[in-house]
Amino acid sequence: MGDGADWGVRVTYIEQDAPRGLAHAVLISESFIDGHPFVMYLGDNLLNKGITGLVEEFVRERPAAQILLARVPDPQMFGVAELSGGRVVRLVEKPETPLSDLALVGVYMFSPQVFESVKRIKPSFRDELEITDAIQDLIDRGLEVRPHIVEGWWKDTGKLEDMLEANRLILDTLERRIEGTVDDLSRLEGKIVLECGAVVEESVVRGPVIIGRNARIVHAYVGPFTSIMANVEIRESEIEHSIVLEGSSIRNLVNRVEDSLIGRNVKIHRTPTKPSAYRFMLGDNSEVGIRW
Ligand code: G1P
Repeated sequence: MGDGADWGVRVTYIEQDAPRGLAHAVLISESFIDGHPFVMYLGDNLLNKGITGLVEEFVRERPAAQILLARVPDPQMFGVAELSGGRVVRLVEKPETPLSDLALVGVYMFSPQVFESVKRIKPSFRDELEITDAIQDLIDRGLEVRPHIVEGWWKDTGKLEDMLEANRLILDTLERRIEGTVDDLSRLEGKIVLECGAVVEESVVRGPVIIGRNARIVHAYVGPFTSIMANVEIRESEIEHSIVLEGSSIRNLVNRVEDSLIGRNVKIHRTPTKPSAYRFMLGDNSEVGIRW
């Protein structure tokens, strides 16, 4: 995100010294927020309808907190809400036996009353100050916590499959825009965004696909539901249904890359070096699937 200038916003970072929980993030932001109502929006949550209307309602009605809920098949993976007569009566973080299928979406609107609650709660089973417990504390203090069931889709992109699904949902909304250059030997089919400075040579790109600034697609195939960020090179290779972050390169592969999430400045290529073996330099929690 940098300083936010690319998106016309100003970003200030307040760092946690360790992952001590969402309520801890609120706690250390108190002086920055300086007595104003605020939105806490978890960076891995995507909502297709946005939150403008909800923020307007929150500002108008001024409850202590406004929370968003969505029905999910696996509520034990989330904070779960129990409603009665349209009011929130109980919130439990990752319950073993969920009392409903209403998951807490990671977008919260708070009045400064939440600061007292984040100071009152104790760390949870996973040793974090849970925002779910802080909201329960608001309820226990008799303050109003307004629930909203979200319409449209919501994604918590914590896992690879979710990230790829979110990628599909967003790519489906693309409008074709070609600002980069495409040679006569290439074919662009369907909804494609080709950003400024991107080059496609002797390749087939089948949308929906987005290709970032100064990326190079050479003698390659880029298939549906692929997001390629700036300065990526795809050469003599095929890729589909994947996400590739800035500065990475994929060269001379024999098999198509699919269902993959590739980070920044990653290099994947075939080498002639002997002995013939797989050579990896992978970060923590990486996963590699090799066909045999
Ligand atoms: C966090 C919250 C949880 C909420 C989820 C939504 O979970 O603790 O209540 O349902 O975000 O994305 P975490 O990502 O910390 O597991």
